[in-house]
Amino acid sequence: MPDATPALPGAAAKPPPPEQALREFPDTQWGQGRTTHLEHLVEAGCVLHFPQLAFTVQPPEQRFLDPRWSDGRSKNISLRAGGELRGTQAQGQDRQQLQAMIERFAAQAAQLVDRLFPQYRGKLRAGNASLRPFEVQGRETSWRKDDARLHVDAFPSNPTRGLRLLRVFSNVHPGQLARQWRVGEAFEDFGARFLPRLRPAWPGSARALHLLRLTKALRTPYDQAMLQLHDLAKSDLEYQRRAPQARVDFAPGSTWVVYSDQVLHAVMGGQHMMEQTFYLHPDDQLAPHTAPLRVLERLLGRELGVPPRRR
Ligand code: SIN
Ligand code: FE
Repeated sequence: MPDATPALPGAAAKPPPPEQALREFPDTQWGQGRTTHLEHLVEAGCVLHFPQLAFTVQPPEQRFLDPRWSDGRSKNISLRAGGELRGTQAQGQDRQQLQAMIERFAAQAAQLVDRLFPQYRGKLRAGNASLRPFEVQGRETSWRKDDARLHVDAFPSNPTRGLRLLRVFSNVHPGQLARQWRVGEAFEDFGARFLPRLRPAWPGSARALHLLRLTKALRTPYDQAMLQLHDLAKSDLEYQRRAPQARVDFAPGSTWVVYSDQVLHAVMGGQHMMEQTFYLHPDDQLAPHTAPLRVLERLLGRELGVPPRRR
């Protein structure tokens, strides 16, 4: 079903059960192809999967598929939206080539989302792009950082204040190793399940964290709720085992696109992946009511802060 018909504003698809979350498309090129108007699917919580859309690592770049280029502190080598490369000890020409490879991925990811989501044109803001060269298994240092547990993305130092996190991933493993994920229940079900356990943040904590430069922006009540939901899910082993979920494998040479602030996900295995993050204001969605901010506000019956127009 490459040529999905444009949906009416406000008409997101129904949230899929985990075993139907994956939707496949036959595209083989980033900037060209007939697949378009998929806003209603991605906003419903589907994972858009392109099994034949590969990010090509050129022969001279194959050497970068090796964790030894890391700086030893970061788990990713990332290219900031402003153009700065972080997380690598590569110098000189190596560094330039590594940066050029991640820049090429960023450019192709931008072409892809431009084509898939015409409604978002001119509204998506690119965040960081990264190369993730570490083997997934055995990587976790604490339960909170353990992405092998189902979670929605929410980052302690980087409040989004309700902006959407749209991510493009490509498995660039040079051999056969799939990126193995689990995907979980609909965001609304997840929210309703854990909301009774949410606690108000300490008065003044958002301001104090910001003054101490522990957060890059002031956390809003939305960020505080999302961080707690992230932790409640990861710390609940019963939930991890028993929650509705499905396994999905992304083979080398495939690409997938997902709202990672909405889709419960966990990574169980794999090595070598590229990733590009985009931010979108929820009011710029086709169906704004599907945004986690709006879902939580409905469930709680109160406002959770105002997402920024600029970041
Ligand atoms: C994540 O949980 O966002 C990481 C996904 C991955 O490493 O495949
Ligand atoms: Fe995640």
